[in-house]
Amino acid sequence: MLHQSFTRAMAALFAFLFLLASAAQAQTAKLPNVTILATGGTIAGTGATSTTTVGYTAATVGVQALIQAVPEIAKVANVSGEQVFQIASENMGNEHWLILAKRVNALLAQPNVDGIVITHGTDTLEETAYFLNLVVKSRKPVVVVGSMRPSTALSADGPINLYNAVNLAGSPQAVGKGVMVAMNDQIHAARDVTKANTTTTDTFRSTELGMIGYIQGGKPFFYRDVTRKHTVESEFDVSKLDALPQVDVAYAYANVGDVAVKALVAAGARGLVHAGVGNGSLPAKTKPALVAARSQGVVIVRSARVGQGIVARNGEANDDQLDFVVSDTLSPQKARILLMLALTKTSNTKDIQRMFYTY
Ligand code: SIN
Repeated sequence: MLHQSFTRAMAALFAFLFLLASAAQAQTAKLPNVTILATGGTIAGTGATSTTTVGYTAATVGVQALIQAVPEIAKVANVSGEQVFQIASENMGNEHWLILAKRVNALLAQPNVDGIVITHGTDTLEETAYFLNLVVKSRKPVVVVGSMRPSTALSADGPINLYNAVNLAGSPQAVGKGVMVAMNDQIHAARDVTKANTTTTDTFRSTELGMIGYIQGGKPFFYRDVTRKHTVESEFDVSKLDALPQVDVAYAYANVGDVAVKALVAAGARGLVHAGVGNGSLPAKTKPALVAARSQGVVIVRSARVGQGIVARNGEANDDQLDFVVSDTLSPQKARILLMLALTKTSNTKDIQRMFYTY
């Protein structure tokens, strides 16, 4: 009798445990599948003490440790991690971008991947985000995230930024928004965001054009849409590329001459971005070198170091006559990216100008 009651109790317990496990499994199965691609940066950095917020070492913590440091992530997504690179982002190069873009496209082509988070150093984060914005072939969310404080710092911003980024990458609302940057509870479009402060945690800003949303309580709230083409609407395809055309930036300032332009052309630049003062003005001592470069086939994009506003075509220079292209509102560093990709398709300046008004 005692034996029978014990057996019944055990059976009931097992049935209960089985139901509990099935419910948990069903819950996990419903969560989005997000892959975290780690590339290094301060988010993976460590300092000597908890108050070390400058002078730390970037890119030391591996992706699994980053994920384990935020156990809350497991409640909102099924995450897997890959260590793609382990570098400080000032060392990010075209070759890294091609590897990263191909990996992102391969992962997003899999039906069991819902979104991607890329952890990245903040110094060139906006450039990687814009590059991916132009070459990712999927509407699924891609979120680039970093932190300003190393993982060992008091009030490190990496864990909350990563948690927000995973939530965003797994959100159906984020589908079709292009590549996004999630930092400091804000969502920025890759095209418009820039790092605007050397050290503070609110450094990522979309300044005049504005961020596209917030993340609050892990949920994205969108307020704007990006009007420029990106991802699946982009004409650029890096799937068969092993290198990108050499494009460099020549910075203008009072008293600037032609040394940088001549040196860059001599070093093989196929395109040059003139980071001009004001509305992309051409200093008299620089202009002849740019004109000579153009006559040798180098494509010249006039941009502005100002950071805001449209560089007016035929404004500060007669672009039609000079056969130059203007950058529209793109910063010099982002104009460099678009010009590199443009040169993979054409060297026709009319077509390249169309691209600058499209992306
Ligand atoms: C880096 O860009 O790798 C270092 C700086 C940072 O991540 O904030």
